[in-house]
Amino acid sequence: MDSNKLGGKVVIVAGGAGLLGREFVNAVVENGGIAVIADADRAGGEELQKSLKSSKAEFIEFDITSKASIEKMASSLMKKHGKIDALVNSVYPKNANYGRKFEDVTYEDFCENIDMNLGGCFLLCQQLIAVFKKQGYGNIINIASIYGVIPPRFEIYEGTEMTMPVEYAAIKAAVIHLTKYFAKALTGCNIRVNAISPGGILNNQPEEFLEKYNSYGLSKGMLEAKDLNGSVIYLLSDDSQYVNGQNIIVDDGFVL
Ligand SMILES: NC(=O)c1ccc[n+]([C@@H]2O[C@H](COP(=O)([O-])OP(=O)(O)OC[C@H]3O[C@@H](n4cnc5c(N)ncnc54)[C@H](O)[C@@H]3O)[C@@H](O)[C@H]2O)c1
Repeated sequence: MDSNKLGGKVVIVAGGAGLLGREFVNAVVENGGIAVIADADRAGGEELQKSLKSSKAEFIEFDITSKASIEKMASSLMKKHGKIDALVNSVYPKNANYGRKFEDVTYEDFCENIDMNLGGCFLLCQQLIAVFKKQGYGNIINIASIYGVIPPRFEIYEGTEMTMPVEYAAIKAAVIHLTKYFAKALTGCNIRVNAISPGGILNNQPEEFLEKYNSYGLSKGMLEAKDLNGSVIYLLSDDSQYVNGQNIIVDDGFVL
């Protein structure tokens, strides 16, 4: 439903060309904001921007692991819009070996995935916080996961090729805590930092897995990416002015 809840806010959706990110981009535009699709995937980002047919969505290519790339993005947005109101971090970098069972993960792969994902999250937040401090306000939403909150439910992956990657558990728990660290470190700076921890999102998973996953849901089970939009818009809007350092779990009760 269209609204003007965001009233012209400039929102960087980092990872905006991804499964979740593209829904956030849509939601920002539908709620009166300007969505910056910031992604390493130029083709995907530009295609999304065209498909939206809106002057309120624009694409910027960026790499979350490069300080220079983040600085370039921030300075070009400041030049164009004179402000950046918020960042939604939905980037999901991983190397070619990501997703193996933990017994098969090498030290090098573990470290590389932590570097790119958690290190990237740190770098992006750190650089945007510097911009927000100069500007006098800001708002960050990190997309974490239920698997940063509870240990894996390994039983739901039995009989499939899927697992819950060991790096993911470490990264997501750390993203939730990093979020609280930044919120607290920014006391008095008028910058909020929150996280959203989604449950599993439908994306052509095998039926066998879905049945087991859904047995933990309280109504719907696996969610659709758009089911997160309400929480994202809430945190982006002034309705959540005093919500800070929180992790909002959106999972149909899966973690209970
Ligand atoms: N999909 C799920 O079921 C699910 C569930 C819970 C949490 N999450 C979290 O939501 C977030 C988004 O997940 P998703 O499923 O949309 O992932 P996705 O892979 O569909 O999208 C991630 C986006 O990040 C971009 N990206 C990758 N490396 C990059 C880099 N170095 N610099 C800039 N952009 C880069 C990709 O191009 C892609 O568009 C992740 O943090 C993920 O952990 C996802």
